[in-house]
Amino acid sequence: MGYMTIDGIEVEFTDESNVLSVIRKADIDIPTLCYHSELSVYGACRLCTVENDRGKTFASCSERPRDGMVIYTNTPRLMKYRKMILELLLSAHCRDCTTCIKSGECHLQELAHRMGVTSIGYENKKTQYPIDMSSPAIVRDPNKCILCGDCVRMCDNVQHVNAIDFAYRGTEALVTPAFDKTIAETDCVNCGQCRAVCPTGAISINTNIEVIWEALADKNVKVIAQIAPAVRVAVGDAFGLARGENVMGKIVNVMHRMGFDEVYDTAYGADLTVMEESKELLERLTSGEKLPLFTSCCPAWVSYCESHYPELVDHISTCRSPMQMFGAVMQEYYKEPKKNGGKQILSVAVMPCTAKKAEILRGESKTDGKQDVDYVLTTTELITMIKKTGIRFENLDIESSDMPFGIGSGAGIIFGNTGGVTEAVLRRLTDGHNRSDMDRIRHSGVRGEEGIKELTFPYKDREIRAAVVSGLGNADELIKRIKSGEAEYDFVEVMACHRGCVMGGGQPVQAGPRTRAARAKGLYDTDINTQIKKSNENPLTVTLYNTLLKGKEHKLLHRNME
Ligand code: FES
Repeated sequence: MGYMTIDGIEVEFTDESNVLSVIRKADIDIPTLCYHSELSVYGACRLCTVENDRGKTFASCSERPRDGMVIYTNTPRLMKYRKMILELLLSAHCRDCTTCIKSGECHLQELAHRMGVTSIGYENKKTQYPIDMSSPAIVRDPNKCILCGDCVRMCDNVQHVNAIDFAYRGTEALVTPAFDKTIAETDCVNCGQCRAVCPTGAISINTNIEVIWEALADKNVKVIAQIAPAVRVAVGDAFGLARGENVMGKIVNVMHRMGFDEVYDTAYGADLTVMEESKELLERLTSGEKLPLFTSCCPAWVSYCESHYPELVDHISTCRSPMQMFGAVMQEYYKEPKKNGGKQILSVAVMPCTAKKAEILRGESKTDGKQDVDYVLTTTELITMIKKTGIRFENLDIESSDMPFGIGSGAGIIFGNTGGVTEAVLRRLTDGHNRSDMDRIRHSGVRGEEGIKELTFPYKDREIRAAVVSGLGNADELIKRIKSGEAEYDFVEVMACHRGCVMGGGQPVQAGPRTRAARAKGLYDTDINTQIKKSNENPLTVTLYNTLLKGKEHKLLHRNME
């Protein structure tokens, strides 16, 4: 512990690893472009520069706090310096801010506005590069890159994917896949975490907004939507509502008003996943084969396993993801003319995830050769669409999701948090359903935002050994331990994004620690307020198994591997 003086005020520090964190603790929002608390310190942008009592300037993100330090964060010299840095960055940046997809969400734009940059006195002489649209999930525009390196460190240090890196030197320096390949030609898993940390429009979502507007206006098309659990706790703060507030009811209302014919809840699909995955786990525990069973809900994880650990692909559950199960069930349901009204069915999934845009295109995501989900809209795209309508989202009344797929259990809702799938499976495998049974599972070690969690849970005359991992780098570490024999599990939940889908690559960006915690709490609070806690007690699930799914469980709920 120690004390620093910041702008004349004494501030205590304890375990803060750099001066910047102490400044932020003192509620001073000092500008940064290349600092993220979860990435290694790069110190390239120099925007966080401060001055000490001897007039020395230094980057606060790269300096350890020392007892007795005296610093100033907002002297005229520093203000001028920061403005100049921004002007230089913008001088080599394309200037189509008004038409940029990141406009309004762009950190560079926000800082330029804050620092009073009103004109740029330099000509942009930088080589112009083609925009990489090869991925169904993300778009790379090198002309908007400011070389902060956030995406590179995310892809390399945190996700262990290494799809992009710095290339060339000096004014030719560039962030790009190796050998100037397109992003689709790399091992990119489409997780979108590079986009989540990119402060500009250099990495953005490959959007499907226009085609959805067209479908909504077409009288011959019935547009059916499903909403993933994590979406409902990330939309509200874009409209001035409390962070993490569950606004599912308002989302359903606004989507109806936008022209979506039916709006369902993917938590229902998650319930189907729990049913099938629990069954698969018990079968593998009995046979002792292909253990541990890895979850299959996260498409970025499935892609990562295929490219980095192909020998483990057989260990991944054969279950489709909740989105895909729901997609297949809906297509089956709407086959009947009575249900589709003679119209073409367009199935749209609103997801917190960019990788879902790639998942729907995979061969195994098709039934009888047809895509089960036609388009994925990320949370960010949905927010953009709502804003375009001008509807005052914050003032809307709530509406319930449509039937017959409108009810998801609490177990399905918590899928959006890391540990949610495991908790839901343990609920399914537990006979009881009262509060103490649920509490026992909740306190088993399954909750919390750590990247790797381990737990054991009694089941009949044995124990189930489980691990919960979020972040692909953590998955990589865990797999190495499993392969070396250092760790042994029966069940491993993997989510590619740290903390799970609530922090997915399609969620609104710039989510700090308070937003992250609020989103997780929003889902757990929703579970608390839900009467049906277990997937096998969802009456709609039970009915479906006895009707539409009869004899078709494998075809509609498991991945088509042919
Ligand atoms: Fe410190 Fe960029 S935030 S140098």
